[in-house]
Amino acid sequence: MKVINSLKDIRSFIKNHKPNKKISLIPTMGNLHSGHVELIKSAPSSSVKIVSIYVNELQFNDRNDYLSYPRTLEDDLSVCEDNNVDLIFNPDHLVIGEHLDSNKYDLPKFTTYMCGAKRPGHFLGVYRIVKFLFEIFEPNYAYFGKKDFQQLLLIKYIANTYFPKLKIIDIDTVRNCNNVALSSRLSKISSGSFGKVKLIFQILQAMKKKLQSGLDYNFTRESSLIEFKNNNIPVEYLDLRSLDTLKELVKVNSKCGIFIACYIDNVRLIDNIEI
Ligand code: PAF
Repeated sequence: MKVINSLKDIRSFIKNHKPNKKISLIPTMGNLHSGHVELIKSAPSSSVKIVSIYVNELQFNDRNDYLSYPRTLEDDLSVCEDNNVDLIFNPDHLVIGEHLDSNKYDLPKFTTYMCGAKRPGHFLGVYRIVKFLFEIFEPNYAYFGKKDFQQLLLIKYIANTYFPKLKIIDIDTVRNCNNVALSSRLSKISSGSFGKVKLIFQILQAMKKKLQSGLDYNFTRESSLIEFKNNNIPVEYLDLRSLDTLKELVKVNSKCGIFIACYIDNVRLIDNIEI
């Protein structure tokens, strides 16, 4: 496994491999967990597997959140080694910074909803880094998890618009035995609060069942919000939305899901469930 920090080395690596092999890219911000491993494992072993590890400051609207983001490079490298990754791209801030131009970006309307409304600049930061990674690696496949569903739609938009040969592979959210969606942010939550974290998916699943049995959406949503409140879990949004456009819905249709962002121990967690 090679670890590369510079763009020059990336270019020669790609030049050497590209003619014979397909390239699979797994963009990450490190602190790799089983969710990331699932992305890595999903890439064909015949392809060159590249994992990028870069905590992208541009996508953090809160500087403290950026500074306290868990950084575990040594562990990440051994996770990659154990999972047959061929190349790690771990650039330093400056390598990336000078290559991101500041043209006006075409962010689709759906990036203004949910996390877009609550985290100004977040999706622009994601857009800039991901487009840059697609440009330098020219991957054939790129892997992203459905937990960040809104991000996934943005990435599909970038691929469809600018990289028509690139296939985006979406991977189901990986959950632990308590159905908690794996996230690097969980490492910031105290063990005493894990009972609360479990509630997120339990409440989403109960909402799904109620909606499927025909209960009114507004009533279901209100009673779930009360449940979160009673458990001292501040909710940022809890929405029923179209899986295609992310437009808000007031009743279920054939392609929709419930999306949530909430805070536990002041840590912002997101999750979603398809209906
Ligand atoms: O999902 C993430 O970890 C990040 O948003 C990504 C896609 C690696 C861009 O920094």
